[in-house]
Amino acid sequence: MREDIIEYLKKEIYERSQGPGNKFGEGAYYHIEAVAKNGELLAKKFGADEEVVIIASWLHDIASITDIDLYEMHHIHGASIAEEILTKLNYDKDKINLVKECIKNHRGSVKMDKLTIEEQCVADADAISHFDNVPSLLYLAYKQKGMSIEEGADFVKNKLIRSYNKLSDNSKEFYTYKFNDTIKMFK
Ligand SMILES: [Fe+2]
Ligand SMILES: [Fe+2]
Repeated sequence: MREDIIEYLKKEIYERSQGPGNKFGEGAYYHIEAVAKNGELLAKKFGADEEVVIIASWLHDIASITDIDLYEMHHIHGASIAEEILTKLNYDKDKINLVKECIKNHRGSVKMDKLTIEEQCVADADAISHFDNVPSLLYLAYKQKGMSIEEGADFVKNKLIRSYNKLSDNSKEFYTYKFNDTIKMFK
């Protein structure tokens, strides 16, 4: 495991999330951190290359937090930025390509048909990460969108249900407990 690269990326992502290019607020870092945590869990569970999944998870939204203008195509820009950083860090060429594929295909809305197990882990970790960041979603609903208690609860609940429905069948099963525990709060 290239711990040196993972440590470097944590710092790099933290710094970019604090920089002027990040328009998503402090929640962006918590989101990426949660994706890395869930990515590691899923990679272990499904026998994926853990290192590739963890590195791709830390990098998957790097373009969005660097420059809001890159958001629309952040999966494409993110793959290029990842290549640049990982090449500089002397990461294995083949693994860089796997990481790039994970970043390109992490978006539920831009899903490709055939995903490698590593790509699936990152995409699923991205979707399930909302369950680890309910306070950020509540903040978005009540503080940023100014919703009423009921509107906000519905907004967050629906967002969580949509995220869960994006998961692959295997991950749905793996996270059933998390879904049920979290959704209970909104009834
Ligand atoms: Fe993303
Ligand atoms: Fe993400």
